Amino acid sequence: MDREKVLSVENISKTFPGVKALNNISLDLYKGEVLVLVGENGAGKSTFVKILSGIYMADEGGKMTLDKEAYIPKGIRDANEKGIYIIHQELNMIPDMTITENLLLAKGFPKRKDLKCFVDWKEAHRQAQSIIDQMDLKYDLHAKVETLSVAGQQMLEISKAISQENAKVIIMDEPTASITSQEVDKLFEYIQKLKERGISIIYISHRLEEIKRIGDRILVLRDGTYVGEKEAAAVDIDEMIRMMVGRNVTQYYPKSGHKAGEPALEVENLSLPRLVKNVSLQARKGEVLGIGGLVGAGRTELVRAIFGADRMVSGRILINGSPVKLSNPKRSVKHKIAFLTEDRKRLGLLMGQSIWSNVVISGFSKLGRFGFLTEGRAVKVTEYYKEKLKIRMPSSRTLIENLSGGNQQKVIFARRLSM
Ligand SMILES: Nc1ncnc2c1ncn2[C@@H]1O[C@H](COP(=O)(O)OP(=O)(O)OP(=O)(O)O)[C@@H](O)[C@H]1O
Ligand SMILES: [Mg+2]
Repeated sequence: MDREKVLSVENISKTFPGVKALNNISLDLYKGEVLVLVGENGAGKSTFVKILSGIYMADEGGKMTLDKEAYIPKGIRDANEKGIYIIHQELNMIPDMTITENLLLAKGFPKRKDLKCFVDWKEAHRQAQSIIDQMDLKYDLHAKVETLSVAGQQMLEISKAISQENAKVIIMDEPTASITSQEVDKLFEYIQKLKERGISIIYISHRLEEIKRIGDRILVLRDGTYVGEKEAAAVDIDEMIRMMVGRNVTQYYPKSGHKAGEPALEVENLSLPRLVKNVSLQARKGEVLGIGGLVGAGRTELVRAIFGADRMVSGRILINGSPVKLSNPKRSVKHKIAFLTEDRKRLGLLMGQSIWSNVVISGFSKLGRFGFLTEGRAVKVTEYYKEKLKIRMPSSRTLIENLSGGNQQKVIFARRLSM
């Protein structure tokens, strides 16, 4: 491998009120390599790449160098101009703007030759088309971004980031969290092309099997500190987990060994207006039932219909053996069905609110005595789930947006469990 250094980071720290998110991190990034960052939820991965991409300022005392020049990004646009791009962990497109508008928003729209203050839409769509062609996306450029699935939006974010001609470093913060293995293959093929062009990638993922596949080097963070790094080819997954959690782990996903019981949920011949036709399934007590399929196969549509969020055309649902009518989510909740969406940013979290409000919001009548729920009680409930789900958070009164991505997801899970 070409060992020309592109970016060098020395002693970067970041302190948030009450939390030391990063503590003296140093690393070198070489031209054309894929550096994978791993660590448990809250380890500091996103904070670190947000500093690289100009979203956060690091604490005083550190130093960054990009292509032998001091690198102090003043903001995300400044970082882009200097060649550093980021694909965020949370989706960042503007939902009610079209695909073309979203793709060209940052870099600017082409202007008409005759009337310079008007956008040349023909040229704009041509540019947008060439961006999505890189990933073979077959989208209608005039469609609003909100009409795309979460995975569809993720693919759009990826295409946008990799189409930047001046890119030196592209950061991908969990780009594959919502996409299927086919799309992962497409992304990885593209990453190979980027490497050949000498572009360096910083890649964050919790999917341990893909880390060895795509990474050249793996760097482990724990509690905001540097634990160590390894050549990807040489790393052993158990060893990596040990570095991440700081102790010996025999099984990362231990089997509980219990037996599944009677059918709790049965779906018979469920059909929807589109995509889903005659689907039947059975989920037994104490069982995890996985639903597979490609993007667009109808998995989200199926579970939304079971939850009563979308109307089914025909079919029957049974709970504990008795037929039920789940015509809206409220009824489903009465039957103790909870739904966790894949798009936590848009549908799940109450931004600007405390963690405890986010936990108890759906369970007011259930959790409170006589219909009242005091803050004290809500905090207690939240603390209980903090222990159960190992949510990393400073306090129940912290704002939800100050938690790491994975911990935000755990808060939504706590909300469902508390119901
Ligand atoms: N804006 C913020 N204000 C306060 N604390 C923050 C803020 N952003 C992150 N933190 C805290 O910094 C720590 C590191 O968070 P970070 O988002 O970097 O974790 P992560 O490694 O990306 O985790 P995940 O895998 O869950 O995405 C966490 O304890 C988090 O609560
Ligand atoms: Mg993160």
